[in-house]
Amino acid sequence: MKRLLSGITPSGDGSLHIGNYLGAVRQFIELAKSHETFLMVADLHGLTTIQDKFKLQHNIETLVLNELALLRGFMTESEFNNIIFFRQSDVPMHTECQSIINNVTPLGLLKRAHAYKDKLQKDVMEDDINVGLFSYPMLMAADILLYQADLVPVGKDQKQHVEITRDIAGYFNKIYKKNVFKLPDPFIPDEVAVVLGTDGQRKMSKTLGNVVSIFESEDVVRKQVMGAYTDPTRKHATDPGHIEGNMVFTYLGFFGHPTEVAALKEQYKAGKVSDVEVKEYLFKSLMSFFGPARSAYEELKNNPTLVKKILHSGQARALSVATQTMKGVRDAIGVTTTYSFFEYQKSTSGTHISIDEFARVEIRVGHVVEAANKEGSDKLIRLVVDVGEDSKRIIFTGVRGFGYTPDDFTGKQFFFITNLAPRKMMDEESQGMILAVDSPRSEAGGVDNKPQFISAEGMAVGAKIR
Ligand code: ADP
Ligand code: TRP
Repeated sequence: MKRLLSGITPSGDGSLHIGNYLGAVRQFIELAKSHETFLMVADLHGLTTIQDKFKLQHNIETLVLNELALLRGFMTESEFNNIIFFRQSDVPMHTECQSIINNVTPLGLLKRAHAYKDKLQKDVMEDDINVGLFSYPMLMAADILLYQADLVPVGKDQKQHVEITRDIAGYFNKIYKKNVFKLPDPFIPDEVAVVLGTDGQRKMSKTLGNVVSIFESEDVVRKQVMGAYTDPTRKHATDPGHIEGNMVFTYLGFFGHPTEVAALKEQYKAGKVSDVEVKEYLFKSLMSFFGPARSAYEELKNNPTLVKKILHSGQARALSVATQTMKGVRDAIGVTTTYSFFEYQKSTSGTHISIDEFARVEIRVGHVVEAANKEGSDKLIRLVVDVGEDSKRIIFTGVRGFGYTPDDFTGKQFFFITNLAPRKMMDEESQGMILAVDSPRSEAGGVDNKPQFISAEGMAVGAKIR
């Protein structure tokens, strides 16, 4: 299955309009059916323009709710669960990767990037442009490369960034003579045109105030619809009206019922229906089309725990891929050496687990009924343990090398993890694990590293740690 990654920046006020839906989110929903899909709230990208803490917080929260509501509103539960939805700032490797790939990127490549060039042309002095905006394509490249994405669905304005990403991946792989990064393809379906705003002139965009909102109150949406550009030549409802360039009919093409829309068009051309009536029909169509998403929005807004849970699970899945890629990057560039003392993954929040996850580990007091050296092994001691169940458990511990003998266990009580998947040890399955504490590491290693078992003497057999 090919992998897709895309992101939306929490710019403007963080909310999504019907242009964002038609131009972006709709594609994500469709492609997610046949692709492993990573969708990211690109909150760090927002910093190039938003430098007010409260505004950024507000925008992130709004975008998270808007995007999730659309996904949940228009996807089945199992389709939705396949999507890896996360926040860029929840995965620290994005900035780490950005800083490493900076070094394989020629300055000229960034100087040619539109976002920076356009700013310069608007009479903004170079000194007034922050490095974050200049290196915006680098962070976006890191976003994409970390996940080894095959496909990056974006609006036309972002195509150049994906091409820059391809170039950077190529430079890196060439310099380090290894295919560490996959070269991604931009994906811009032909039919994804830019949606014009209610002014009928310019691209629908929050900064231009010409949007039709998805999640605003009914009153606000109705007002936006009533203000839409229709046919300026038409003075009265009885005048024949024009359909071309009429924004109300443009939007109806996406959200109306085809046969009803066709009938309305005929009536409109014949001067038999008023603008207000057509707009009222558009308003109703929008409410019914986005109804499932609007309810999902209310549900999510009232359930921050659920939203956090979705983001948390997205983070975990994103981290595991990003960690894998960064391990390759670190190995390739030469920072992994004989003196490296940690597994990269252990140094990151990749190993943080939630309380919910921890609660799944079951630890019980166990009474060792029998203990014996396992025949044919010079490490294993075989314990028969009563953990308060009908039958006793067989649990192995590989500690003879530290000088432990069966007598150290027989008749005693310790803590055992009792819900591990059974693991085959020689000819038998070990049905749990005894808990031990490492000694402080000594230079000598070996016997000096002798682990200590945690005594549960005097506690009720089978009692659970919580
Ligand atoms: P804006 O351009 O309004 O700032 P964003 O950059 O936040 O919007 O866009 C998020 C996504 O929505 C991008 O993939 C972009 O291509 C798409 N998009 C934004 N406005 C429109 C529009 N008017 N028509 C089609 N797609 C749009
Ligand atoms: N720059 C994109 C935009 O403004 C948002 C974005 C950030 C993105 N990182 C990305 C898109 C990675 C695709 C892939 O729309």
